[in-house]
Amino acid sequence: MRTVYFGTFVHCLALADIQVLPSAAVGVDVDGTIEFLDQNTRSAEASAEKYSWPVGSYSVVSSDPASASFFFPGFFDTHIHASQYPNVGLFGKTTLLDWLNSYTFPLESSFADLKVADDVYSRVIARTLGNGTTTAAYYATVHTAGTNLLADLALKAGQRAFIGRCCMDANSPDYYCDKNLEDAQKATLEVIEHITKIDPDHDIVCPILTPRFAASCSKELLSWLGKLSTDTNLPVQTHISENMLEVELVKSMHTFADSYAGVYDKCGLLHDKTILAHAVHLTDDERALIAKRGSGIAHCPASNSALTSGETRVKWLLDAGVKVGLGTDVSGGFTPSILHTARQALLVSRHLSMKGDESHKLSIEEVLYLATVGGAEVCGLAYKLGNFLPGKKWDAQLITLDCKNSPVDIFPWELKTHEDLVAKWLFNGDDRNVTKVWVDGKLVAGTAFTS
Ligand code: GUN
Ligand code: ZN
Repeated sequence: MRTVYFGTFVHCLALADIQVLPSAAVGVDVDGTIEFLDQNTRSAEASAEKYSWPVGSYSVVSSDPASASFFFPGFFDTHIHASQYPNVGLFGKTTLLDWLNSYTFPLESSFADLKVADDVYSRVIARTLGNGTTTAAYYATVHTAGTNLLADLALKAGQRAFIGRCCMDANSPDYYCDKNLEDAQKATLEVIEHITKIDPDHDIVCPILTPRFAASCSKELLSWLGKLSTDTNLPVQTHISENMLEVELVKSMHTFADSYAGVYDKCGLLHDKTILAHAVHLTDDERALIAKRGSGIAHCPASNSALTSGETRVKWLLDAGVKVGLGTDVSGGFTPSILHTARQALLVSRHLSMKGDESHKLSIEEVLYLATVGGAEVCGLAYKLGNFLPGKKWDAQLITLDCKNSPVDIFPWELKTHEDLVAKWLFNGDDRNVTKVWVDGKLVAGTAFTS
């Protein structure tokens, strides 16, 4: 059945261009494609008639103005380690390299046990979907079976997911690594084969080549993955310039390139389907190279603060034409929520601007853009996702601010504009406000879905 969504819609068109449509209708076809966006309409029925949708050929879903509710595009989490979810909040005073050894690798190694993988991955998917994340770029672990299971679970739950098996054949602990280049290659191909079997068009779940980071891969493995991505057109995700000790380590390991970005570039891994997480300590030349190659950045402000990695200069990246989206980076980051991450992105940008350069400051509209359209660009999906323009897919959330147990207090005497409501949502909202979540036109999560 086709559906007409009616009420208030909020979505981003460009970086500082947020559109609030208080009385609009969006017509969604049976395959989840948006057929029309009718602004300033009286009713769902009036819009349906205007677009020649016969009475009885569609159902209607409305947002409720009395409950301060609105439709918003689904969020993109451009960087999340599904396997690290049990460790959210656990990082003490560590920084990246000792955090990996003391917290992360021991946890990830336990995913050889499929019961652990099933338990954790099921909960991560439920949790992220419940927070409005309709597309996630996941890192699993080094294990093939567990990684395949993550793909099965995402597909079953109806969450769009990039699924990456971590490649790590160098400089990694003996108890948690690819034993050699051939093992890494074989396991990578097995995961691609499995995902292609369960979703041949890679429409909902898609394999993503995942050299963990340059410091955990041999040059041979990096180059093989680069060639594989050229041959298959599959996307790539990895980490870059997160921490200064890491940057030095990469320089000392891979002397064939003159910069961290240069290592990936020389191995064929920098292209327009590459997602680079963090990018805290890039040089001007690396920024120019990444812009030229069309790669995107997953900005992970909660993680960068927790692991004291630094402050990514988001405006500096955007100014050079680099695509930027948001990543929770669970569990370097402590929250699986992209709304919370957008809040963190705004605050980190304020910290940067407090050092004397106001141009770093991000607005509410800008961080919500990063959470939606920016993320879609980084994932190479902006042609079909990110906002409510006709031709795109209905990946959306119904936000209700004045709901039972809401963390957002709306006072009846408040003179609130829609912009004010969006601001209150950004700073105080959470998954209790996510009433419904749709992916590809299908209802998949939300408080009204699970209750
Ligand atoms: N660099 C290499 N592996 C990781 C990881 O798991 N998390 C983060 N934040 N950085 C990394
Ligand atoms: Zn990460």
